[in-house]
Amino acid sequence: MATILDRDIERVLVSQEEIDRITTRIAAELDRDYKDSRRFLLLCILKGSVVFMGDLMKKVTIPVEIDFMKVSSYSNGTESSGRINILLDLNRRDLSECDILIVEDIIDSGRTLSYLVEYLRLNGARSVKTCTLLDKPDRRVVDFVPDYRGLVIPDEFVVGYGLDYAEQYRALPYIGILKPEVYEKRV
Ligand code: IMP
Ligand code: MG
Repeated sequence: MATILDRDIERVLVSQEEIDRITTRIAAELDRDYKDSRRFLLLCILKGSVVFMGDLMKKVTIPVEIDFMKVSSYSNGTESSGRINILLDLNRRDLSECDILIVEDIIDSGRTLSYLVEYLRLNGARSVKTCTLLDKPDRRVVDFVPDYRGLVIPDEFVVGYGLDYAEQYRALPYIGILKPEVYEKRV
């Protein structure tokens, strides 16, 4: 525990080594499943997925295109508002040759991904699949099962490796649980 951010972490839930094993495994699955794709598009959902996406795209060995979308779902830091707004859209004219893999950091209620899958299909993508590093199935509000999944975790709020609390902790190289006093400080 070295940096100023580490001091707010109660415990590490997923270590750097474990994250590395997960991204290596998923990249190998993508190499296998998308090897015949003409246009394989990794779609990063900003901002939480940016670190996962970066690691994944380095480990995939088949040709990939990348793009970004930004949606808002969270209203008060740790609780979902239930509404999805597109803040940054995918400005591509023709998706009919694109096999899109939506890359998410974590699935909670399932609203974000079920909305985006539908949205991209309606916009004519050749195929749409989903990949998440973490999954909290206990929190589901809508039925949703990702195509690729790193790890199932219990219903706890986590930070690091792209995931934030109030825009902080994204740069931690591992995933951890915050000390309770960090939340208390803000209310
Ligand atoms: P969903 O639409 O409820 O599935 O929300 C997914 C989004 O909520 C993720 O992309 C994250 O941005 C955010 N989120 C859900 N759980 C956590 C968490 O434990 N830590 C940080 N962000 C989270
Ligand atoms: Mg997110």
